[in-house]
Amino acid sequence: MKQSVYDLTQQHRSIRQFKDEPLSKETVQKLVEAGQMASTSSYVQAYSIIGITDPEIKKALKEISGQQHVVDNGYLFVYVIDYYRHSLINKETNGNMETSFESAEGLLVGTIDVALAAQNVALTAEDMGLGIVFLGSLRNDVGRVSEILDLPEHVFPLFGMAVGVPSDDEQGSPKQRLPFEHVFHENQYNSDKEQQLEQIKQYDNDIKDYYEQRSNGKRSESWSEQIRKMMSQKTRPDILEKLNIKGFMKK
Ligand SMILES: Cc1cc2nc3c(=O)[nH]c(=O)nc-3n(C[C@H](O)[C@H](O)[C@H](O)COP(=O)(O)O)c2cc1C
Repeated sequence: MKQSVYDLTQQHRSIRQFKDEPLSKETVQKLVEAGQMASTSSYVQAYSIIGITDPEIKKALKEISGQQHVVDNGYLFVYVIDYYRHSLINKETNGNMETSFESAEGLLVGTIDVALAAQNVALTAEDMGLGIVFLGSLRNDVGRVSEILDLPEHVFPLFGMAVGVPSDDEQGSPKQRLPFEHVFHENQYNSDKEQQLEQIKQYDNDIKDYYEQRSNGKRSESWSEQIRKMMSQKTRPDILEKLNIKGFMKK
């Protein structure tokens, strides 16, 4: 019996090792078409998806991300916010559409559009028995990614996605998420500090156990320790400047 979409979501985990089996053109097209049918804010479709087939370009992107799975995969996608076509309409019609796409709201709209399309691609790939991993590491050098991919003004690279047949070594269970009660609020946000702190403590213990089991006792880190370390460093502090250079967040 075919599994439900719900079942599929519950099996997700990022795959970082793939078999040397390139995706066919038909599969790539199907995945992109799945992405395109995601909802899109006001029908703006403010994104493009760039498929990377040139090994030299893959290699150059791997240098930026520092991750081997950027080159070793069945296929590599790069997802960009794309207001280039909107800017062409704007120029052709002497409009003032830049009030939308150069605003903070425009950035949110584009980012959400990209994420929705990408998650449709991810789920469809997983339904085909493929594995995926998102690659935010491409934002390590947005300027260089823009040069390599020849991105014009009003096009901004958000992340990549490696797709492929999971390698036989890729075995493991899905990473436990925050419990339902922690993320679901009914009618109003529950900001009860004691309750939230207690919930975090419980989750920390669960995640510590999970890492200990997975690493045979070598790794023992709670969720909040992990998140505190990661979020205490200002990652990619140049992003606002790079957004401005590309014509985003100017208004
Ligand atoms: C936008 C985004 C960017 C990500 N960037 C990377 C990345 O650069 N490299 C990587 O190995 N994983 C990356 N990931 C994968 C996350 O680390 C992963 O989804 C998270 O740890 C949860 O694990 P799971 O996907 O296996 O459930 C990214 C995920 C998202 C959504």
